[in-house]
Amino acid sequence: MATKAKSAPVQNARLPAKRVSESRSEMVEVVLPNDANPLGAMLGGRLMHLMDIAGAIAAHRHCNSYVVTASVDYVDFRSPVRVGEVVILRSSVNRVWRTSLEVGVKVFCENYLTRELRHTSSAYLTFVAVDEQRRPILVPPLKPETAADRRRFREAAIRRKFRLAQRHRRISRTRPK
Ligand SMILES: CC(C)(COP(=O)(O)OP(=O)(O)OC[C@H]1O[C@@H](n2cnc3c(N)ncnc32)[C@H](O)[C@@H]1OP(=O)(O)O)[C@@H](O)C(=O)NCCC(=O)NCCS
Repeated sequence: MATKAKSAPVQNARLPAKRVSESRSEMVEVVLPNDANPLGAMLGGRLMHLMDIAGAIAAHRHCNSYVVTASVDYVDFRSPVRVGEVVILRSSVNRVWRTSLEVGVKVFCENYLTRELRHTSSAYLTFVAVDEQRRPILVPPLKPETAADRRRFREAAIRRKFRLAQRHRRISRTRPK
């Protein structure tokens, strides 16, 4: 197991803020038989893998650094994604803190005959920007632009409070007495 490295020195505190649109990303995949269960529906784990990658792309673009996934919360699967369907994963940074940032990933299925989109899944992932020694580093501030950006920015603060409280509870429960 890796030993915990000391925090890196503050080095990017003066970076200019970045707009949400600068890191917003989209990833497109076709569902293949190897991605699916025997009923022809995409495996939840495979979709989560793609969500992690789509989220990491937006996080990398915002931070211009390495990032690691610290946590994933609120994943739902609203309807099955079938073999042969086109999956579109849209990711954007909702809010940043000191060294971490929340990215929202929304998954759609596209009917390529009609171009109709079906919202199938959503998730919020927290990434931490790290240097080559995996030490957390500061991330550039975020500039929300649209009303939707500002709503996500506000809501992310509520989720972080809940997420960190849960983390604190889990750590205290598993700490040797
Ligand atoms: C994520 C990681 C870098 C955090 O390191 P750490 O030594 O715990 O660092 P800190 O306690 O200083 O926390 C750093 C930041 O991460 C955030 N964080 C840590 N764990 C978190 C969690 N479970 N959920 C949300 N945020 C978390 C902290 O709130 C802090 O954010 P802030 O600086 O913006 O306030 C470290 O736990 C790690 O490397 N984990 C493994 C990551 C990995 O391998 N991911 C792939 C999936 S297995």
